[in-house]
Amino acid sequence: MREYRVAVVGAGIGRMHAEAFTALPGRFKVQAICDLDAERGGKVAREFGVGEVVTDFASLLGRADIDIIDVCTPPATHLPLARQALAAGKHVVCEKPLVASLADVDDLAAAARAARGTLMPIFQYRFSNGILKLKRLVDAGVTGPLHMATVETAWKRLGAYYAVPWRGKWATELGGCLTGHAIHAHDMLCWIAGPVASVFARTATRVNPIEVEDTAAASLRMASGALATLSVTLNSAVEISRLRLCFHNLTAESALEPYNPGTEPWTFSAMAPEIGHKIEAALAGHEAEPERFTGQFKRYHRALETGGPLPVTLDDARASLELLSALYHSARSGQAVDLPIAPGHPVYRGWTPSP
Ligand SMILES: NC(=O)c1ccc[n+]([C@@H]2O[C@H](COP(=O)([O-])OP(=O)(O)OC[C@H]3O[C@@H](n4cnc5c(N)ncnc54)[C@H](O)[C@@H]3O)[C@@H](O)[C@H]2O)c1
Repeated sequence: MREYRVAVVGAGIGRMHAEAFTALPGRFKVQAICDLDAERGGKVAREFGVGEVVTDFASLLGRADIDIIDVCTPPATHLPLARQALAAGKHVVCEKPLVASLADVDDLAAAARAARGTLMPIFQYRFSNGILKLKRLVDAGVTGPLHMATVETAWKRLGAYYAVPWRGKWATELGGCLTGHAIHAHDMLCWIAGPVASVFARTATRVNPIEVEDTAAASLRMASGALATLSVTLNSAVEISRLRLCFHNLTAESALEPYNPGTEPWTFSAMAPEIGHKIEAALAGHEAEPERFTGQFKRYHRALETGGPLPVTLDDARASLELLSALYHSARSGQAVDLPIAPGHPVYRGWTPSP
């Protein structure tokens, strides 16, 4: 088994990436922490026994002792950093939202196809044991078709959160609660329920004095014909994330953990007793795995070793960016927006308003 050496770039959420890589010794070793702020980088390096802190991203590119560059910097920086790392022959991991538009993700996908290394976007919420059980039930045909899903992201993000200069602005955060927060629950929905066919959305900025939205409601028609509602606020006194999916044969309800709704317990309520037996039989083979970042990185290692599909693909990130494009375009135009969004569509080159 090969051990891949990682440079984690950005010591905010990058701290949790470093923690997860460190939890997989023999598979990964964090070789360096890179942050413009040496003190912040140093703190994370000390916590996880990482020997080196650098402040210059470019200095990582030519190094033979770094296999993976893990981009955990603010959203608007993802595209240039990921491109440079791919061009340098590195494997790249990159935080959400991957980039600012469908045009950008298509460019990045072309760069990744031409590169020696792979590019894996982050969607760690998929890799928790409750939602993995639901995925197993869907794949085994136990759930039957989905009819209706309700997805709630009710978090709390007030003043201090927006003290960081890149947050709250279109140019640097690329969006608000849809782009930065609910993107995870919406990815979980699409992972389970398949592609979105049509969107109607309303957004508002009600909670914070910011440019981007902090409140959103949307109605979706999935390609399967199922309907879904999305609701998002950053002003919930009690923070929860919740997915409730009414399939033909069972109703699945998630945990309420705001930052890990995929974790157990999920409930699977059968429409009839014989479905209950099928649920039990299908879940008998489920083996609990590490969750969230550690769960994604463990599967990532397997994919690197075998050349198999990455646990989160560029197509997955593209689907989330296409949904965002449609949501923002609908909210601005007051019209329903149908997917797919083709090159030439007014929102293909980005949803952020021109400055
Ligand atoms: N997957 C998740 O659950 C999750 C959670 C939080 C944030 N994020 C994403 O992670 C990214 C970072 O968010 P954050 O909350 O950690 O932000 P942050 O501001 O707390 O940290 C970002 C760090 O990146 C550093 N940085 C910026 N540009 C750099 C460069 N060119 N080279 C080296 N370092 C650089 C900054 O100095 C800062 O310390 C965003 O894209 C965000 O959406 C994901």
